[in-house]
Amino acid sequence: MSRYLKSGVFILSLLPFLLITYKIFFNKLGPEPVKEITHFTGEWTLIFICLTLSMSPLKKFTNSTFWINIRRMLGLFVFFYATLHLLTYIAIDYRFDWEPIINDVVKKKYIYIGFSAWLLLIPLALTSSKKMVRLLKQNWKKLHRLIYIIAIFGSLHFIWLSKTIFFKPLIYTLIILFLLSLRIKLKKSS
Ligand code: HEM
Repeated sequence: MSRYLKSGVFILSLLPFLLITYKIFFNKLGPEPVKEITHFTGEWTLIFICLTLSMSPLKKFTNSTFWINIRRMLGLFVFFYATLHLLTYIAIDYRFDWEPIINDVVKKKYIYIGFSAWLLLIPLALTSSKKMVRLLKQNWKKLHRLIYIIAIFGSLHFIWLSKTIFFKPLIYTLIILFLLSLRIKLKKSS
């Protein structure tokens, strides 16, 4: 049963990717296609960060391990959408013109923090297999706490690029802070 549910979550997680692919191939991206892809992939990265962070609280509240079974997969989707987001910026927006890209990373703080978040995702993606969980033991948990920093960097990236916290960046920031505060509460009570 759990296997079917897991496959269902996998298919659902792919839907945003299928939707943006459909929009690209059928010219449904509107007047600013690159902006549309960047915004779409950026927002879905943030949504998957929130989903990943929701899994341990859900496990605690429902007493079901199902949430933990899909947590690593959701984490990999964070990396997947973040990489699509980065590739849109590097390959479509700047056509691999490295000089302005490096300039952006150094000079624009929202690009710098977004890029840092993506870099921090790499070790998590590389150690996401069951084998690595077994191999790293307690260190796996410690390493994967990087997702908290990534979540904060992601919301800062959104606030800084929007130049205001109102309203979408504020909503994501509050959701992330709430999910992080639950962890402190859950730790204290366990
Ligand atoms: C965990 C990593 C990241 C997250 C969660 C994230 C999230 C987001 C979000 C939510 C948006 C705005 C979407 C909207 O307006 O609806 C966005 C826009 C953007 N992001 Fe990211 N991002 C990440 C990494 C990156 C990286 C690595 C780069 C490039 C180096 C980048 C470059 C951009 C750009 C150029 C925009 C559009 C800015 C504009 O509207 O002018 N992001 N991102």
